[in-house]
Amino acid sequence: MGYKVVVVGATGNVGKEMLNILAEREFPVDEIAALASRKSLGTEVSFGDRTLKTQDLDTFDFTGWDIALFAIGSDATKVYAPKAADSGCVVIDNSSLYRYDPDVPLIVPEVNADAVVGYTKKNIIANPNCSTAQMVVALKPLHDRARIKRVVVATYQSVSGTGKEAMDELWNQTKGLFVPGQEVEPKVYPKQIAFNVIPHIDVFLDSGETKEEWKMVAETKKILDPKIKVTATCVRVPVFVGHSEAINIEFEDHLDWEEATDILREAPGVLVVDKREAGGYITPIECVGEYATYISRIRQDSTIENGLNLWCVSDNLRKGAALNAVQIAEVLGQRCLKKG
Ligand SMILES: NC(=O)c1ccc[n+]([C@@H]2O[C@H](COP(=O)([O-])OP(=O)(O)OC[C@H]3O[C@@H](n4cnc5c(N)ncnc54)[C@H](OP(=O)(O)O)[C@@H]3O)[C@@H](O)[C@H]2O)c1
Repeated sequence: MGYKVVVVGATGNVGKEMLNILAEREFPVDEIAALASRKSLGTEVSFGDRTLKTQDLDTFDFTGWDIALFAIGSDATKVYAPKAADSGCVVIDNSSLYRYDPDVPLIVPEVNADAVVGYTKKNIIANPNCSTAQMVVALKPLHDRARIKRVVVATYQSVSGTGKEAMDELWNQTKGLFVPGQEVEPKVYPKQIAFNVIPHIDVFLDSGETKEEWKMVAETKKILDPKIKVTATCVRVPVFVGHSEAINIEFEDHLDWEEATDILREAPGVLVVDKREAGGYITPIECVGEYATYISRIRQDSTIENGLNLWCVSDNLRKGAALNAVQIAEVLGQRCLKKG
């Protein structure tokens, strides 16, 4: 006995990973449907050792389905998520559309699993931004011990965070730079991404910060603690998968780096790799396909009274999106839904 599960956006980066992770974690699935846009009708996607044919989201009837994992952009989500939710199917949404809605819980299971029960107001649960998800997994156990006052974070975000077209753009620009006459003109990003870094993710706001930077502030407050001050600089880097973050944390109470390391070693979802020697830390390429949020370079910040620095890396398609969404479905199944 299990659930009837729909994966929406099954041909995309996150959708494919959601299918992989549902199968890997043996989520109790009685029936599964893979949906995408009409142009992908009949496209084959893998679910464990099965092959599913993609169906058209526009004509799909969600009645009788238990859980829909959405990974399409906000515009399409606005049209289809309420349709699914109104049919009685619980939506777990990866877009940013519902994250700041007070009637929609925003969940990272290692941090605020209890808030999942709030889904009943709209039948929708939101999944956070990829950069926020891995950061709050690292912050939560430290906050519990020494109360975080302020976080200063700089991100190094991979192109898969923008979707499959952005991965193609990095690949084609990289190849194109070695083949005379081949096109390297930017289309997805405003500037060349190959062999470059771009300090701009999502739109600019009146304050001068970008929407991505604003999301890290707003989502950390909603998931972890509204009292924590966060300031972020979000940067796109020419990495295919895996987001990295340099995080500076100021605490109310003193916390030395050795105790912080011990706390993080025991924390759910975290793996510490911190040898203080060449290669004794994690880089994004090593986290691809993994579940963990990796922490390295844990050290005191001696310029403030109670400060620490650390380096945080995770697979943005997994903990930053698909894994977190499946973990939410697991919590929902264990605490709220009856098996069919
Ligand atoms: N990538 C990340 O790290 C990450 C992290 C957190 C959240 N997210 C969010 O997750 C969502 C998906 O991201 P992604 O990286 O997987 O994008 P992607 O690789 O570009 O895939 C987009 C998916 O959405 C489908 N789609 C788009 N418009 C549609 C429509 N009108 N009707 C039906 N299906 C439609 C596409 O289907 P077709 O193939 O048929 O076009 C495809 O399956 C976005 O909201 C993104 O912000 C992504």
